[in-house]
Amino acid sequence: MSPGPLVRVAFPAPAPFGQGPPPGGVALLTIDRPEALNAVSFALLAELVAALRALDADRACHCAVLTGAGSRAFAAGADIRELAGQTPESLRAGDDFERWDELRAIGLPIIAAVRGYALGGGCELAMACDLIVAGEDAQFGQPEIKLGVIPGAGGTQRLTRAIGKARAMELILTGRSISAREAAAAGLVNLVVPAEETLDRALQLAGQIAAMPPIAVRSAKAMINRAAETSLTDGLADERQAFFDLFATADKAEGMAAFAEKRAPTWQGR
Ligand code: CAA
Repeated sequence: MSPGPLVRVAFPAPAPFGQGPPPGGVALLTIDRPEALNAVSFALLAELVAALRALDADRACHCAVLTGAGSRAFAAGADIRELAGQTPESLRAGDDFERWDELRAIGLPIIAAVRGYALGGGCELAMACDLIVAGEDAQFGQPEIKLGVIPGAGGTQRLTRAIGKARAMELILTGRSISAREAAAAGLVNLVVPAEETLDRALQLAGQIAAMPPIAVRSAKAMINRAAETSLTDGLADERQAFFDLFATADKAEGMAAFAEKRAPTWQGR
């Protein structure tokens, strides 16, 4: 029997919450394994990446929201049952961990809408997104140390960059998880909202981003991510090049004309 899709993709109607622009061009991806607290199996990760790559190539899609089915978990980690039988050789021979690199290559902005557990690979998945909206019931952590391993999908690198060495050391060496509020105070998440509003608030934020000129949005995402990869001198040079390149777009002409004419711009995405 086929297990059915592990990741659902939908294009939601305008969110009822808030006064933001309607979320046209927003895709909602839902990790749909609530019986296993949305644990990220290799098959699930492959499906997720395939779905995001398709959306990334879709000119009508301007922002994605990623969430977990149910209210208990965004994702409680990589699938421990699947990892239990692995060896260094089997992990090296497979290409399953390369999916995480493919996720990194997505140009579309992605917002994680997190309720409940975002642990291990779940926390790493949230951090691989560009923004995180956390419900008050969210918990973030890297408990891999309790399993005799370490974070293997970016946790040691992304958590350290997000919250600094001292706090990352503590969380990763003890496996302690933190509340949404502690995560916000540490700079890990953008927004903490009442639990029931998490998805609507993430969709609202996605709608605001989707209402911006898409080429500039992608360029901004790429340059911000560049900051974590390069020296200030090289990053500033790359930013200047990207900035200059945007002056060839119709959206730049429209944005500046609309400002001068005191009207709202209409973006063409070119
Ligand atoms: N992998 C596979 N199954 C998982 C899972 C995971 N990461 N997390 C939870 N589940 C399953 C449980 O096995 C259980 O299934 P059954 O009902 O069939 O027994 C179901 O989800 C519900 O979980 P619990 O009964 O454990 O729920 P709880 O409320 O008692 O506890 C929890 C919740 C504290 C999150 C606990 O499930 C837990 O500790 N999960 C594991 C968290 C973890 O260690 N994550 C890191 C994984 S390793 C990793 O991610 C490596 C990497 O960096 C790539």
